[in-house]
Order: sequence, then structure tokens, then C-alpha cells
Amino acid sequence: MLKNDLLLRTLRGEQTERTPVWMMRQAGRYLPEYIAIRNKYSFFERCQTPELACEITIQPVDIVGVDAAILFSDILVVPQAMGLEVQLIESKGPVLPDPVKTAADLNRVRVPDVNETLGYVFDAIKLIKQELNNRVPLIGFAGAPWTLLCYMVQGKGSKTFDEAKAFCYTQPALAHQLLQMITDTTIAYLKAQVAAGADTVQLFDSWGGLLSKQDFETISLPYIKQIVNALKDETLVIIFAKGAWYSLQEMAATGAAGLGIDWCIEPQMARSFAGDNITLQGNFDPAKLLSPVPVIETEVKKMLKAFGNTKHVANLGHGILPNVPVAHAKAFVDTVKNYDWND
Ligand code: CP3
Repeated sequence: MLKNDLLLRTLRGEQTERTPVWMMRQAGRYLPEYIAIRNKYSFFERCQTPELACEITIQPVDIVGVDAAILFSDILVVPQAMGLEVQLIESKGPVLPDPVKTAADLNRVRVPDVNETLGYVFDAIKLIKQELNNRVPLIGFAGAPWTLLCYMVQGKGSKTFDEAKAFCYTQPALAHQLLQMITDTTIAYLKAQVAAGADTVQLFDSWGGLLSKQDFETISLPYIKQIVNALKDETLVIIFAKGAWYSLQEMAATGAAGLGIDWCIEPQMARSFAGDNITLQGNFDPAKLLSPVPVIETEVKKMLKAFGNTKHVANLGHGILPNVPVAHAKAFVDTVKNYDWND
């Protein structure tokens, strides 16, 4: 039995004693303890060594006091398992030297046996569950198919992912074939994460909002729907499609337990789009954690009030930035934990 299951109860729609809080990308570069490990091991060594992934996953639970741990890994381990080379170059981000551009390129991509290619993730999850010893739930995750296609086609990060979009607009049949392969891999991958012990899973569609509503609903949402459908009887699924506020209603209809929202939509408006039955997660501007601590405290309280005391998981509207002082991350978490609804 979990000692702190606030996140899971909130995702189930139950009224809890207080709002649960965690931060996207909480296991990472703003923590000196993470940097110390990064200085000794390469990125994929950190992902592929269960003891290292376990230590990094638990760091923010111990240091910042969040109500959930999120597995230390990356969304790009899936394209890697599907046969593409992925490099993570410091200060440059991910690079895929041989991206998918043509039908011939697609022959290099396969739907792998996840136990053979991603077994290290499931080993890490088992170890993390053991080390967490029921303190807080463990969140598993994967990238949404559209966001993974962005990297698999563009070959690197981009502000517009124009080449990925061009691929979808000029070779739609090929794009849908690739999206379906990613979807099939992701379903098997997330099911195995749950079987290994993940208590809930989040789908990151970081680049969903680069698409128009119509394109999001043909290129991204149908595949998210398939994944939620395959998982929802086994676990609680959170969808975070950054920027895709225009499809919150359609995302709520998938059967997901929670929807992540960013800071570009007001909580009340997100609620009116998503309806009353789903839990919302977010939506503090990550850059606002660079404000002085008293400003963070005031702004977090404003956010809590705007969402209300039920069906809300406090979080950032995107990942924490590397230059955020640990004390500021702690102020964010502590303000949520100490908030008195009678104030
Ligand atoms: O949330 C967590 O703390 C768990 C671990 C996690 C990482 N990446 C570790 C990581 C998670 C959930 C991710 C998801 C991820 N990875 C996303 C979706 C979420 C988002 O932020 O939009 C995306 C788009 C990626 C792809 C990726 N991985 C990029 C663009 C980069 C480089 C730039 C960056 O944001 O750091 C990575 C590398 C990466 N993944 C690091 C970490 C801790 C930094 C590596 C380092 O320098 O130590």
C-alpha cells in the first residue's frame, strides 16, 4: 500500500486532503546531485543502468519533496528501440543522424519486441519501486506518436518541425504507417511499464500544439486515442499535449484520467473545454520559477485558487528549466503542500 497516493486518488477524481504536486522533468539538470552523476556517465548509460536511473528518479522525491516520482529515461529510447540511431549531444540536444524521409528509410524501422530492446527500463522500474518502498507513486511515460515522428523525421530539435510537417503533408500514407508503428510499439512499451510496477503513465505530446486543430485531430489524436484505449483498463493515463488547448474536449473523451495543460490557457477555460469529469494537471510557467521566492508563493496560490481544490494536480506547464535554483523548485512544491483552502 502506498503511503502517499494523493496523485492516484486525484487522477481517479476523488476529493483529497490537499492538491498533489510534481514537476515535469523533475529528474534532471537543475539538481547538483544529477549533474554529479552526469559528469561520470553518458546519457544513455544513465538510462540503461537501472541503479543510475533509480538513483536519479528518486533524487527529487528526497530533495524537493514531490508527491510522485517519474521514471528517469527519455522519450527517444523508443525510436532507438525501433532501429534508429539516437545521439544526445550536450548543449545541442537530440540528434538522429539518419532520419526517416522516404519509403526506403521506413524499411529500417521496425516494431520491436520491447522486452528485448527496452528490458532495461522495466528492470529500472522494478528497482525504483523497491527503493521507493511505497513512499510515493511512480509515473511511467512515453512520447506521443506525433512528437516521436517529429524527431524521427526532422532528425533534431526544431522550433517549427517543418520537415516533419512536410513529411505528413506530402507523404500522408507513409506518415500514417510510421505513426501506427510508433503506436504499436508504445502500447506494448507502456503495458510492460505497468506490468513492471508503474502506477500511472503520462504521454508527452510536446509538439502537439504546433499543429492546427484539424491536423492535430488527424495526425496526433487518433494515435493517442488508440494508446489510451489499450491502457485505460490497466492504469490511469495522463495526456500532456502542449499547446493543443483547442482539442481538450476531444482528449477528455478518450477515457484518459488526466490532462496536462500549459500556461497559455487559463484554468477556468481549460476546465470549460475539458468538462467536469477529468483531472487537470499544470500549469505554472516554468520560467516563473526564476522569480523571487515570495513571487513564486503568491503566483502558486493564485494558480491553486483558479483550479480549485478538486481534480487538480499541481505541476508546471512544461519541463523545469536547468537554471532554476533548487530552493525555488522547493518553494513551488512547499507552497502547494502548505496551502490552506480557508485562507
Ligand atoms: O521528467 C523527468 O524528470 C523524467 C525524465 C525525462 C527526460 N526526458 C530526461 C532527460 C522525461 C520525461 C523526458 C521527456 C522528453 N524528452 C520530452 C518530453 C517532455 C518535454 O520536455 O517536452 C522530450 C521532447 C524529450 C527529448 C529530449 N531529451 C530533449 C529535447 C533533450 C535535450 C534538451 C533538454 O530538454 O534537456 C533531452 C535530453 C534529456 N532528457 C535530459 C534529461 C534529464 C538532459 C540531458 C542532460 O544534459 O543531462
